[in-house]
Amino acid sequence: MLDPDEKTITEAVLQTLVDTPDSRIRTVLSALVQHLHDFVLDVDLTEAEWAYAIEFLTRTGQKSDDKRQEFILLSDVLGVTMLVDTVNHRRSTGTTENSVQGPFYREVRPEFADGADISNGLPGTPLLFHATVVDTTGAPVPGAEFDVWHADSHGHYDSDVPGLDAAAMRGLFRTGPDGTVTIRSIAPAPYPIPDDGPVGELMHATGRPVMRPGHIHVRIAAPGFSTVTTMLFRDDDPYLTNDPVFGTKRSLLYRRDLREGRDRPYDLVEHTFVLDRLH
Ligand code: BEZ
Ligand code: FE
Repeated sequence: MLDPDEKTITEAVLQTLVDTPDSRIRTVLSALVQHLHDFVLDVDLTEAEWAYAIEFLTRTGQKSDDKRQEFILLSDVLGVTMLVDTVNHRRSTGTTENSVQGPFYREVRPEFADGADISNGLPGTPLLFHATVVDTTGAPVPGAEFDVWHADSHGHYDSDVPGLDAAAMRGLFRTGPDGTVTIRSIAPAPYPIPDDGPVGELMHATGRPVMRPGHIHVRIAAPGFSTVTTMLFRDDDPYLTNDPVFGTKRSLLYRRDLREGRDRPYDLVEHTFVLDRLH
């Protein structure tokens, strides 16, 4: 087109997309262009602001590698991860709700027998986690892969524990014939999301807190069921209502239950996970 101006350029760009053979690509790209143009007009974007945005996104890519994914973190703090999750998992009522996976899940993780201690000797309040996995009728789901991973009592995942060069506080279990699994570990503490990159810059510029409430990540996979990736939070955690990645849900809270142990007290966490059948 000749002489594009602010009233005609959006339609001109949209016209270039009308012959896109894949209709889904056409739909998504057209909406993206429309929203981007509306955004520029809405805020009267300056050239300096656009240059800053491009430089910010460039640094977000540069900060990412096979261990750190700054774009996912950006998606998390902007609420996009949880929104995409909600749109894609309109699950049956009463089934366990998803939460963010976060950057600390590892496909290479040790496998454990029921009742094993995964703390690798790290200090902290002992944790006894007793989980039951059922379907929507309440029948147990035996043989489900039950992944668990969490931070230590200082808020460090194993890769960040000073001097530790092995897996800890993570492992793969399998539910028994009654759908249960028992895991011994140490109670997790709250911790900050990684804030030494562009996402941290965004958080600090907007005065947002970076602390996540303490939590225990869980991923449950079983044939015939939709895999659930979620986490449990203590209901008295001071950071519960300001989670920087919007991952907290009422159905994922547990009440602190400090029990008298043989030598010292331990935290008991009991939770029933309800899996949704694949439709
Ligand atoms: C986490 O829970 O490990 C986490 C989730 C999202 C962003 C950063 C950390
Ligand atoms: Fe986490």
